[in-house]
Amino acid sequence: MFASAAVAAALLCCCFSLHPAFGEECASRQEVQGSLKQVLKFLSAHEASYLQNLRNLKKKINQLQSSAAKQTAKAMNSTCAKLDAPANGRKLGRSHGLGHEVHFVCDRGFELVGPESRLCQESLTWSGQQPVCQDVNECASSPCLNGGTCVDEVNQFSCACARGWAGATCQSPVPTFFVTRTNASSVMAAAATLPAATTGPSVRPSRCTIVQGTTHCTCEPGYTISGRESNTCVDIDECEVFHNGPAGRLCLHTCVNTPGGYRCSCPAGYDVTRDGRSCKDIDECATRQNDCTKDQMCINTYGGFQCVQVECPKIPHATYVKTSPMRCERNPCPVDNKSCSQTPNSFSYHYLSVVSNLSAPRVMFRVSALRPVGDTLRFALLGGRLARRHFTVQRSDRLTGQLMLVSPVQGPVTLEADVEMSELEKRAQLGRYITKVTMFVSQYDF
Ligand SMILES: *[C@@H]1O[C@H](CO)[C@@H](O)[C@H](O)[C@H]1NC(C)=O
Ligand SMILES: *[C@@H]1O[C@H](CO)[C@@H](O)[C@H](O)[C@H]1NC(C)=O
Ligand SMILES: *[C@@H]1O[C@H](CO)[C@@H](O)[C@H](O)[C@H]1NC(C)=O
Ligand SMILES: *[C@@H]1O[C@H](CO)[C@@H](O)[C@H](O)[C@H]1NC(C)=O
Repeated sequence: MFASAAVAAALLCCCFSLHPAFGEECASRQEVQGSLKQVLKFLSAHEASYLQNLRNLKKKINQLQSSAAKQTAKAMNSTCAKLDAPANGRKLGRSHGLGHEVHFVCDRGFELVGPESRLCQESLTWSGQQPVCQDVNECASSPCLNGGTCVDEVNQFSCACARGWAGATCQSPVPTFFVTRTNASSVMAAAATLPAATTGPSVRPSRCTIVQGTTHCTCEPGYTISGRESNTCVDIDECEVFHNGPAGRLCLHTCVNTPGGYRCSCPAGYDVTRDGRSCKDIDECATRQNDCTKDQMCINTYGGFQCVQVECPKIPHATYVKTSPMRCERNPCPVDNKSCSQTPNSFSYHYLSVVSNLSAPRVMFRVSALRPVGDTLRFALLGGRLARRHFTVQRSDRLTGQLMLVSPVQGPVTLEADVEMSELEKRAQLGRYITKVTMFVSQYDF
């Protein structure tokens, strides 16, 4: 187009440079002005289409560049250095490729110190520090009650109880009664002749000794003196007595009174913790206590598990292909097919397991652009009213958006929120990426 404009301009130059004597052969002044106007029109029409073509070209080059970057990343041996599992623990995830994550878990009796997962970053180094599995200090949770002193042992603990307390966690008071009697042998005889019906596991004889004419009767730990003559011991209902003691609730979930003690029980899907009072979720996915099929993914939740299977969305004007277990990407669109190119470029799937009544506000999930192409990123929350009631999407830095939980959610319930990230260049949309977040909220707040 420049070529033809240049020719037109050259013709005009020739005309002006002609000698006035040959004025007849040259165009008149008006004709020259007319031609100039036409050339200007011609130039501005071409300028507009030239700019339009430049813009399209730039967009295509951008697209080529990003796909080339992806392919070189694949072609080059883009892996991070091999990572070892921590001593007394395991590493989950075998791929050391760029963008992959490995997770760490510790053997029983050990706890992870450091990050739970590390990401192979673009610099081909792992994020974070290598975690270690540390022998669990069983005393860390202060399991000994009522002033007892905890002694850490391998994989267990013992309590040295303060005076007046007994039991594995010093949970039971040792009742001590001083009864003055003139005849101790009658007490011993009375205890020995208790009717059989009253000497069940929750009623026991007391033990009395005489010290300088004073009878001193005691019960076994977990029992207290009863009976008219202090001759029997009855079980203490710790669940009732310590319902809300200074050391907090006796049991996180349910307290079951037993002769001489108590025990805590947990709902299905939980194990009682080593201190006997709390409940710890069972990881059905790690222990094969799940029935997910080969094609499904097992997601551990608090108190259970979910089998999920990612299916690529079926939406008009575009088709999607699964590029990883949690991601679908759009197949290339036919040239100049606008309805296709406006559909999302990808759908990513993420599953979160949380306890009921989680405090809010808090960040649940972050979405980032690794290699942004355009000049602007926009983040938005898609999805129905339920999603909007509990979630909002905010930007946390130039390249990152975050999904925030705005109000506590009472389980059991499953919530879904779609986070959209759009890439723009001079306000024109270059791409849309959808992250579908599914949150499994458990029935209990533990
Ligand atoms: C990629 O890396 C692996 C392990 O580091 C090595 O065995 C393999 O030969 C490499 N492949 C290429 C094409 O460099
Ligand atoms: C003590 O009790 C026994 C049996 O009940 C009786 O035989 C004895 O006389 C009593 N002794 C005194 C000092 O009361
Ligand atoms: C655009 O492409 C999609 C997917 O290839 C196709 O289904 C659709 O009919 C096309 N639309 C037009 C207007 O060509
Ligand atoms: C939820 O948590 C708040 C504060 O942590 C607490 O006050 C409230 O009782 C809890 N609600 C339920 C139903 O557990």
